[in-house]
Amino acid sequence: MNKNDTHDLVKKAYGDVARKNMSCCASSSGQSCCSTDKSYIIEDHIIPESEMGLSCGNPLAFSMIKKGDTVIDLGSGGGKDVFMAAEIVGSEGRSIGIDMTHEMLELANKNAVKFTEKTGLKNVEFREGYIEKLPVENNTADAVISNCVINLATDKQAVFNEIYRTLKNGGSMIVSDIVLEKPLSNEMKNSETLYSACVSGALLRGEYLKCIENAGFKNIRILKDNKYSVTQVGSDPITGEVKDELKDCASSITVAAQKFTFGCCCGGKC
Ligand SMILES: C[S@@+](CC[C@H](N)C(=O)[O-])C[C@H]1O[C@@H](n2cnc3c(N)ncnc32)[C@H](O)[C@@H]1O
Repeated sequence: MNKNDTHDLVKKAYGDVARKNMSCCASSSGQSCCSTDKSYIIEDHIIPESEMGLSCGNPLAFSMIKKGDTVIDLGSGGGKDVFMAAEIVGSEGRSIGIDMTHEMLELANKNAVKFTEKTGLKNVEFREGYIEKLPVENNTADAVISNCVINLATDKQAVFNEIYRTLKNGGSMIVSDIVLEKPLSNEMKNSETLYSACVSGALLRGEYLKCIENAGFKNIRILKDNKYSVTQVGSDPITGEVKDELKDCASSITVAAQKFTFGCCCGGKC
């Protein structure tokens, strides 16, 4: 599949999800982005409609953003993490979501109206764009977050380079994502269903961490590391057949790293 075909495939899958306002696998399993782990679900989310069961972590759980910050969320979906970040950064901060799928942006903007009604905050914005080429100026963000999206990107190195470009000096990246623990069979690699389900587009763990390092990041840490248990992937006959092979093939990790253009401030002392 070329880059445009992959984007179209993913847009179609998540456009359908937005339209139905349910998870990518809800038609068959109702599980969070094809995982059985429900710990990624935020039960008491301020905008419950934005919690669509599409996450594989919680990048905001590590107290790394503060009042007044500018936060960018890559692949913002229904806006779940954008709204949580907006509450933390408050009226002096900004929370910006980027997504390429029209239907998701429509849903996120509807949710944003409810968010403002509930909180009085007007610090949320959704922009249409690809995470491989962010519609954001250089040195804008104090933090860039992402939740279960980079595995879907056609060029992961470009995504990490873009995160680095858009972060301010000293800013942090905190991303939750799927990585592979072993190479997939060709059959699994070529499954469109498995791609949209966040598995077959994922990089091997070592390759993923190498891309982060190549982008120039320092102070790279894995904050959370869970087995990703993919037990049911839609009703696709191929993914049904490879179900056993999916056991232990992937993990969901949350990685933090920092941008330092004037030497490393690792450990917080510059
Ligand atoms: C698995 S969902 C995660 C949504 C959200 N982060 C959450 O946790 O609820 C993936 C989202 O990323 C978007 N997406 C996937 N690939 C993208 C890309 N290359 N550029 C921009 N958005 C993308 C999809 O449209 C979809 O909304």
